[in-house]
Amino acid sequence: MSDGGTKGAQRRPLIGTSWKMHLVPSAAAAYLETLVPLVSDIVDRDLFVLPPFPALPIARERLLGTNVAFGAQDVHPEDEGPYTGDVSAPMLADLGCRFVEVGHAERRRDHGETPPLVAAKVRAVLRWRMEPIVCIGEARRQHPDAVADALIAELASLLGGLAADDVARVVIAYEPVWAIGAGAEAASAHEVGRVHAAIRGWLDGLGDGGRRVRVIYGGSVDPQNASALLAQSAVDGLFVGRRALNPDVFAAIAATPVESNES
Ligand code: PGA
Repeated sequence: MSDGGTKGAQRRPLIGTSWKMHLVPSAAAAYLETLVPLVSDIVDRDLFVLPPFPALPIARERLLGTNVAFGAQDVHPEDEGPYTGDVSAPMLADLGCRFVEVGHAERRRDHGETPPLVAAKVRAVLRWRMEPIVCIGEARRQHPDAVADALIAELASLLGGLAADDVARVVIAYEPVWAIGAGAEAASAHEVGRVHAAIRGWLDGLGDGGRRVRVIYGGSVDPQNASALLAQSAVDGLFVGRRALNPDVFAAIAATPVESNES
């Protein structure tokens, strides 16, 4: 197993899961009880889980002091106020969240989240010294070069104006919308490799902050395709949805060897 090799000395591989709206808190406790010992020997990469809000205190109880970080699936852009039902960045920071996902395709679809709202959420997460996992991806399958051009334009406005230190804490999750969820299949390693390489080139051009940004892939990741996806030199990690609802499967994906070959 390599130490991440071509992923760049400044970027540790990152593999995580969002449980979306699955697992009641008692099921979350059982999941983490199973997961933690299965992955405790993994030291060459960062791991995370993003439970639903009600399970965050359980995650804190079970994961603080382990090699599995935790975080939330969404956040409100304001720090506090009359926003019934919403959850703020200081609340998540106070609970010990390291990561906060923003702009997932399901939130853009079901809650009408727009690029300016996603950008405001990224800033809230950064203000509270957490790490935003920003999801971007095309709705319909297209040539990877066209996809990359559109995503880089979106990233340019999303990250524009941020200090290098803040940029460095951003994680980008490339998640083609057509590859997400039951009935879909993952993008090919070739497609993913090309889109990531283009994003990587653009990020590297931003200087030191950009070079430290990790770009991970999500969309129907499973134990069979994980290795080929991770083998792409510009893929810094994986973001797993439904397959990781079984902790044994997530542990298997989390342990996927990271080869340092070129695509
Ligand atoms: P999936 O979800 O693995 O179930 O396709 C991925 C995601 O939405 O991040």
